[in-house]
Amino acid sequence: MNIALSRKPASEIESAALILLEVEGSPAESLKASLQLAYDSGEISGKAMEMTLVHNMAGFRAARLLLAGIGKRERFGTSELRNVVSAAVRHLKSRKIKEATLSLDPGYSTPEHVTAAVEGAILGDFEPEAFKSEKSTLLESFTVNVTAENPGLDEALDRGRIVAEGQNFAREVASEPPNQLTPLAMAARARAMAEQFGLNCEVLDRDHMKQLGMGALLGVAQGSAEPPALILLRYTPESGKNAPHLGLVGKGVTFDTGGISIKPALDMDKMKFDMSGGAAVMGAMRAIAQLKPPIPVTALIPTVENMPGSRAQRPGDIVKSLSGKTIEVLNTDAEGRLILADAITYAKQIGCTHLVDAATLTGSIVIALGPVNTGVFSSDAALLDRWMHAAQAQGDKMWQMPMDEEYREKLKSVNADLQNIGGRPAGSITAAWFLREFAGETPWIHLDICGTAWLDDAQPWMAKGPTGVPVRSFVHLAVNWKD
Ligand code: BES
Ligand code: ZN
Ligand code: ZN
Repeated sequence: MNIALSRKPASEIESAALILLEVEGSPAESLKASLQLAYDSGEISGKAMEMTLVHNMAGFRAARLLLAGIGKRERFGTSELRNVVSAAVRHLKSRKIKEATLSLDPGYSTPEHVTAAVEGAILGDFEPEAFKSEKSTLLESFTVNVTAENPGLDEALDRGRIVAEGQNFAREVASEPPNQLTPLAMAARARAMAEQFGLNCEVLDRDHMKQLGMGALLGVAQGSAEPPALILLRYTPESGKNAPHLGLVGKGVTFDTGGISIKPALDMDKMKFDMSGGAAVMGAMRAIAQLKPPIPVTALIPTVENMPGSRAQRPGDIVKSLSGKTIEVLNTDAEGRLILADAITYAKQIGCTHLVDAATLTGSIVIALGPVNTGVFSSDAALLDRWMHAAQAQGDKMWQMPMDEEYREKLKSVNADLQNIGGRPAGSITAAWFLREFAGETPWIHLDICGTAWLDDAQPWMAKGPTGVPVRSFVHLAVNWKD
């Protein structure tokens, strides 16, 4: 999509569709006279996400106006702007309109607004349809028009494009079918992306991981004919210090059958999404490579296929993790924590000082938070504070979950140092505690994105399918890291 910035009076903009933001209860002066009846009857109210398309409006050069409701002014911030622009773009492209201009009033012409608007347009345009012969119409060109000048608007436009393209990259990877996106294919995608954007990429193969002693990861991989990989992507700033060093860890299970503790058949196809955390980390690195934060960032994506093959691990097996801790595998479907345990240990070994992992880890978090909030677990108040600020700024909804020591008891094993399940109550918390055992003293955050990585129903602002959460927050955390 071609993205541009313009600076004209709204009435002079020539466009197939000029998007105007409608505040609830206060119709724009320039439209009042022509649309009086529609306002009076309540047909145009300005309620959030209300879309009204009008042709040949007197006093405008644009072919159409799209009046996009934004609700009450007090409740309208950059997150709401991102979503309403997405919804407007989706409204237009479903009508086969390929070009649009958004007019931002002086109050909404800050760099943050411009970034959010561009992100909204690019995210709203995305459709997970790479494997369909017939594609839907996509927007070819999107212009943000500002009516007040502020410093940094051109950079803000670029930033929005880079971040949203990173998020869409994550969505594209996450939507690939599991026969195409095997662990090695995921590694190949990472390598190609790294070459394009100047990141260092290293892929550890099975032998290498065996030598290192990654028994937890390899135990999960052994049931599949598809070989596993540990993908490493490194961004190093040109100048600056080596510390802090941020590690982003993403679960990359390309398909989760459950293994010998096999899942029910119903909706098992959704388990292709079990590499969404890894895809989000890749998407974030794509943006980080271009936005060049001041600190080093390393991505670690343990990727495996969890299958019940004849060599598969069994409930009752004991594996030795890279940390040296032994783990009794009581349920082979709790595989995400096993591969993440070794990736987290390795992240510390290679010098990461702060860790954030993202994983479609537990069904339990969907019961707690539904598809609305990502569950946030942390061992460090300062890092948590940074993270919640990043997420808040980016409109990624996050909810902090408790991590009392009492929950940890459930992971005590009779036969090994710990076991990989802690029972049904508080399942997402015991899962987080399992990871924390490996993060140890290193400041760490765990994001359970099981409910937020995938939209089961399309929203006005986003297609059904992978969401790319939490790419924007990852990027924000790295780019705004000041110490
Ligand atoms: N990838 C799943 C999480 C999941 C569950 C995603 C349901 C979507 C829907 C994860 O590997 C898993 O299977 N978790 C188990 C853990 C249990 C065996 C302790 C779960 O949540 O049921
Ligand atoms: Zn599982
Ligand atoms: Zn899984």
